[in-house]
This record gives sequence, C-alpha cells and structure tokens, in this order.
Amino acid sequence: MALHCTRACKRYLLHLAQDNVEFRLPEIKALLSLRGQPFRPSEDFKEKSPFWLLDSLSEDDVRSIMTRTVCAKSVFELWGHGRTHSELQTSLLRYPPEDMAPFFQQDSTYKINVYTFNKTLEFKDRIEKIDALEFLPFQGKVNLKNPDHVFCLLEDYGTDPNNIPDEPFHVYFGRWIADGQRDLIRSHSVKKRHFIGNTSMDAGLSFIMANHARVKAHDLVFDPFVGTGSLLVACSHFGAYVCGTDIDYNTIHGIGKSSRKNQKWRGPDENIRANLRQYGLEQFYMDVLVADASKTIWREGQLFDAIVTDPPYGIRESTRRTGSQKEIIKPPDDFYGESHVPVSMAYHLSDIFSDLLRFAARYLVMGGRLVYWLPVYRPEYREEMIPLHPCLTLISNCEQTLSSHTSRRLITMEKTKELEDSDDLALLHDSRYSPYQGHNAFREKYFSGITKRNGRDEAKTQMKEDN
Ligand SMILES: C[S@@+](CC[C@H](N)C(=O)[O-])C[C@H]1O[C@@H](n2cnc3c(N)ncnc32)[C@H](O)[C@@H]1O
Repeated sequence: MALHCTRACKRYLLHLAQDNVEFRLPEIKALLSLRGQPFRPSEDFKEKSPFWLLDSLSEDDVRSIMTRTVCAKSVFELWGHGRTHSELQTSLLRYPPEDMAPFFQQDSTYKINVYTFNKTLEFKDRIEKIDALEFLPFQGKVNLKNPDHVFCLLEDYGTDPNNIPDEPFHVYFGRWIADGQRDLIRSHSVKKRHFIGNTSMDAGLSFIMANHARVKAHDLVFDPFVGTGSLLVACSHFGAYVCGTDIDYNTIHGIGKSSRKNQKWRGPDENIRANLRQYGLEQFYMDVLVADASKTIWREGQLFDAIVTDPPYGIRESTRRTGSQKEIIKPPDDFYGESHVPVSMAYHLSDIFSDLLRFAARYLVMGGRLVYWLPVYRPEYREEMIPLHPCLTLISNCEQTLSSHTSRRLITMEKTKELEDSDDLALLHDSRYSPYQGHNAFREKYFSGITKRNGRDEAKTQMKEDN
C-alpha cells in the first residue's frame, strides 16, 4: 500500500459507465479508502465525465478497485492524452520510453483497440486512427484474439447525443490494465434470482451499496429489513458473513404468495439461503429471523461491521411495526396471503429512520458504515432533511430519481464516535437530529403528485411498473 508517490505510482485513466452517475464517486472513494488511499483527482476533474484521471496510485491499487467496482468499466495506465491528436502525440513522445519498453518486446503479442464515447466510427476510420499511432515503437506480432498486451485509444465526443462534434474533445492512449465488475449486473440480475419479491433490490445498486459500505471479507453485515435478501447476496459476494431480520413471517420462511408472474405460490426452496446458494455463497449465510426492527433483539455490543438496508417506504409494502393488542390500528393480514405480520400498527417513516440511526450508532463497530435508502418528495427536499446522529458522520448522499416529484437517496454514514449516554439526550432535545418529520406523508405525496398531474389511472400504471 504505497502512501507516497514513487516511480511505481503512475497516472491511470478510469473509464466509467454513464448510469448511476451520482453513485460513482462515493463508490471509487470507498474502494480507494479500503486501500488506505485518498481520492486524488486531476485539476480538470469533471465528476459527470466518463473519463477520470487518477494520480499517485500503484497498479495494485487500481487492480484492487477493479475487482469490486460496478460503476467503472475499465482502467488504463495512461501514456498520453490531449485535446487533439497532435497534442496526444506530443504527450506520448514525452512518456518515458523505459516505461513503454517492457510492453514492446519482439517476443510478445499485442492489440490496439479504439473506443469512442458518444460517437460510432466506421471500421476504416478506426484503422486510420490505429495507423496514425505508428510513431510508437510497437514490436512483436499483432494478435487480436489472445494478445499479451492490449492498448487503447479512447476518444471523448462529449455527453450531448444531439450535438456530436466532428473531432473529439479529448483523446487518451494507454495500456489496458483491468475491467471492472459490470458483468455482475447481468449474472446476478433479479430476473434470474431464485427467490424474489416485489421490492427485491436491483443487482447493480445492491453491489454499489455493498461498495459504499466498504464490505469486505470476514465482516459481519446486517440488514434489518432483509426482504428477499438481495443486499445479503451482494455483501456475501465480497466475502462477508450476512444476517437479517424482517417483520414478515412469510418472507423469512419463503412461503405464501409468489411475486412471479404465472406462479401463484412460492415453491418449496424459495428463500434467502437458496439465493446465496444460487451464487455459491451459502457458506456466508448466518441466518435470518422474523423480528421487528423497531424493537431490539440483540445483546449490547459492537456487533456489525456494516448495516446495509432498504427500509420500507410504504409504496409497494406497508410500513409496520409490531404492537400490543391495545395499540392495533389495523387487523392482521391473512396468514397465507402475500405477507404476514402478527399484530401490526403504523410505523412512521421518520421513526423508521431515527430508529435505524440509533441502532447503527449502538451496534456498529467504530469505522463501520450504515448504508440505506431514504425516500424524498423532491419539491420539498433540502439537504438538512437527512437524519443525523452525533456518532455517525455523513459520507455521501446520492439521488436516484423515481419520478418527477419523488426520488430516493442512498445515504452512507460512518460511525466516528463511541455512543455515550448524553447522545440519547441530544437526540431528544436537539431538533437537528430529527429533521425528516415532514416526510411521514411520503406515500400520500407520491400518489398525489401522480394523480394531480395525470389522473388516477397513471398512478396505477406507475405502481405496476414499479412492481
Ligand atoms: C423495501 S423492502 C426490502 C427489500 C429487500 N432489500 C429485498 O431486496 O428484497 C422492506 C422490507 O421491510 C420489511 N419491514 C417492514 N416493516 C418492518 C419492521 N418494522 N421491521 C422489520 N422489517 C420490516 C418488509 O416486510 C419488507 O420486506
């Protein structure tokens, strides 16, 4: 882990996917911090660009990021770049020849790729661009199928598909080092998942959450609103032991109505353990329990390295907690129906989040992270609404838009202070710690926004699409 830049530290070009744009920087920062490295962007860093230059890292650092990232596509050792091809040539001629030499050997094979962002080039234009690189001392034979070394010319034509320039804004040339883990998005798609529910978390976002939480091998990770366990799948993929709770008996036991089209009831082995088994991760399964997240069932202590969760927002599932017979405001659901909660009462969104933060402050190890989704009504959203806790530091806050008027925000917090008795008092008396109150009516706002604009039918369609 090189903390100071030596000759082994070079400049790397990270090529990022253009979806989930807001989630990329916290992901890369989290993965760098697992290596003890800060994020050192170049002076002209643009967060929304598909290309980032990273300085003062070793090849091991960038390789390690690529074993986990689902936001970055590939990384290259940057040999040169510029605003024009002639600037690129000048920059490449300045790159130390002794650093190129190991990859330009008579007995090695190579290939040159041309990648263009926001423009498609014809085959002959690509060949022309490759030929124009002949000033570099390439040696050895070209091998397109299985080369020893892959080089890449990358051209950036900007991000506006309606205004594509003739010439690129920026060009880069480098040696390909590694690809990221974008394949996981398809291989772990919930469409092919053994056990799913209406709110199963998308595979890409689940891996992003595990990365924001810096989940690593041998950690113990907890999801208090576990549902069908999508977040446990992602966290165990990185070698963490996983456990969870859900208030719904049917979900935990994998029984009741199926969420799949053309299937009425869940099959005999549709449960969270089987989901982990599907990906060869069963050894990381601790257990899941029927429990209400508003009532703690754990012994005192710093039990979890990370808490990664997607609490209910009341759109596709109700927000409930257990209550005594006296407190019941709604009769219990049909036991063999879609869900089963023994004796339930309303669980206000603001309470869900303040309970979650209090739980994290108590049960996380120091330096452990809480990663969760917070639903927001966009017209009223202000950053001050994000729930706080004296023991938890806000690390990142990324928006995923759900509709013109609603979104959810992925919140990452880190435990940076030991819990003291005085913190509970502060939570009671300091209004900074319960700023989310206004969002209790999220469900009503979610539907009112849709119906106000387009009538009730669209609200129903939107619900269906969400499911
Ligand atoms: C958004 S879903 C989680 C989906 C999950 N991430 C998945 O991929 O399947 C929220 C879950 O919280 C559960 N839930 C609701 N109220 C709860 C409570 N008070 N305690 C524990 N779980 C609760 C619901 O039954 C639901 O399964």
